[in-house]
Amino acid sequence: EQAGKGEYDHFMLKEINEQPTALAQALEGRIDPDTGRIALSDFEPGTFEDIESVQFVACGTSYHAALYGSLALNQAGVQSTALLANEYSVSAPPIDDDTLVVAVTQSGETADTLNALRHAADEGASTVTVTNVVGSTAAREADEALFIRAGPEIGVAATKTFSSQAVMLTLLGQRIAADQRGDPSADRSSLLAELAAMPDAIEDMLAVSDAEAIADQYANSQSYFFIGRGLGFSVALEGALKFKEITYEHAEGFASGELKHGPLALVTPDTPVFAVFTGEEDEKTLKNAEEAQTRGAPVIAVCPADHRAVEVADEHLEIPETDSDLAGLLANVQLQLVSYYAADLLDRPIDKPRNLAKSVTVE
Ligand code: AGP
Repeated sequence: EQAGKGEYDHFMLKEINEQPTALAQALEGRIDPDTGRIALSDFEPGTFEDIESVQFVACGTSYHAALYGSLALNQAGVQSTALLANEYSVSAPPIDDDTLVVAVTQSGETADTLNALRHAADEGASTVTVTNVVGSTAAREADEALFIRAGPEIGVAATKTFSSQAVMLTLLGQRIAADQRGDPSADRSSLLAELAAMPDAIEDMLAVSDAEAIADQYANSQSYFFIGRGLGFSVALEGALKFKEITYEHAEGFASGELKHGPLALVTPDTPVFAVFTGEEDEKTLKNAEEAQTRGAPVIAVCPADHRAVEVADEHLEIPETDSDLAGLLANVQLQLVSYYAADLLDRPIDKPRNLAKSVTVE
């Protein structure tokens, strides 16, 4: 097992560092280098022209990637929603043959997600699975499968598969939005260019990350809060899930505007707040962070170097400049590292947290 970790102490850290390669593999051949357009041969242009709404179903970290994909699709003008797969049979919106249901599951074997996929198919929806495992049950049962090509992920905490899923959902979303506009070339070329630059951006960020120092500085806090808006909200949820999963410390993610509707009562000087800035109404998120800071909470801004939040926050985790649709994915990598180093300081069994399994094949 040690041999498989190479130079790293844990698979999780290895897999965090594999993200540039994983994303390059995910994107390989899927953006045309000459035209800068989507070359998603998995789905020819026009495949989704009759789809009226998209429902994403998933659990855990894959749900956060699904939420990311769904919010991005809404912002692109396509009606979509992300649902927890284990809630789907009791909370799904109406489904018909104009509905596309996208199951997001790295393993392709999560029982709750398979149940949701089967329910959707029974109701007449078209189905796609976005997965890392060729030959998995989800890949075989869905009408179509889109493979994220992240390579094996051994750590129970999903890291590189989240990033690869979110990137593939961004590409898929662009194809769906273009099909709905009836113009296959209506994808956002600036977004696709930034997407193609993601592997290098993550590589550069990993080389100079301050995450270890931040984890050290706030070790032994009482609780850890993560806030964000829009796509940044899904990153806040994912940041908190990763943190609690491997450190066993209390962590919660909130939509930044929700802080004042209750969670602010929990905020003290002992509760660091990680604020994710993605360029979606950042001034409001900054105001929300300042409300926490006024109550004594240290604020760690996750944002580019020249962002106004840097002056206001107590600490800064830098992300490279990119499209607002992708900034959250960079922020998420910084938060993965914070969780990793915090868990390492606490001497937790990082790759195999207690009570958890890599793939949950029971309901
Ligand atoms: C994430 O770190 C967890 N291990 C867990 O939430 C996981 O994402 C969830 O169980 C879904 O797994 P899947 O992607 O294989 O369906």
